[in-house]
Amino acid sequence: MGRTILTGDIHGDPIRLYSLEDRGLTKEDVVIVLGDFGIIWQDKKATTKMLELLGDLSFTLAFVDGNHENFNLIEEMEKTIFWNDGAAGLLPGGIIHLYRGQIYKINGKTVGVCGGANSVDKAWRQPKISWWEEEEITYKDIEAFRINLNDKYAEKERKLDMMLTHDCPSSLIPLVALYSGVNGATISNSQRQLEKILDLVPIDKWYFGHWHIDKKLNDKFECLYRGFKEV
Ligand SMILES: [Fe+2]
Repeated sequence: MGRTILTGDIHGDPIRLYSLEDRGLTKEDVVIVLGDFGIIWQDKKATTKMLELLGDLSFTLAFVDGNHENFNLIEEMEKTIFWNDGAAGLLPGGIIHLYRGQIYKINGKTVGVCGGANSVDKAWRQPKISWWEEEEITYKDIEAFRINLNDKYAEKERKLDMMLTHDCPSSLIPLVALYSGVNGATISNSQRQLEKILDLVPIDKWYFGHWHIDKKLNDKFECLYRGFKEV
């Protein structure tokens, strides 16, 4: 069975991924970026080239979408496939986009995914150029998650080994804001939507990015940034 390694936002800079090349990983191993992947950002030709280069990495590369993503270009370039027991987007180089609301079986673990977040700096960004409204998590994403849970598991069998998201649920905001030094953090709609997941299914571990800190908040929640976490 392969290994699964998580890391936080890369914002279009893949250098951290190349630092994994000395770990003896193979395509059976999956490395997952927890949102703000940002590689699919500019024109299609340059992006295709970059993704194909990333496809030459020794491991399988997957990402959860964040808030800083070009959602139009992602949609244009990906095709939906069945991957590890769920629907996912296949991009050039074999890069995998983990869809919101899906539940995958990755290297023996049951993994729920819900990307997205609200950009706090959207007032300074241009719609469809540097900001996309699709960043926000909506009730539809949570509903898709609930339906997938119902379809896949009988009520008593429902349990996730881990949840992978870009942002975290609203109840965690005071703690994560404290650790990341953000004063006066307000609660976004996306964070409220993620909070609903806690009522849907027992979850053993929940990993997220977005806050640019590497910090274990408690027994369940851990924020990742530059660090790698093998799970
Ligand atoms: Fe983010």
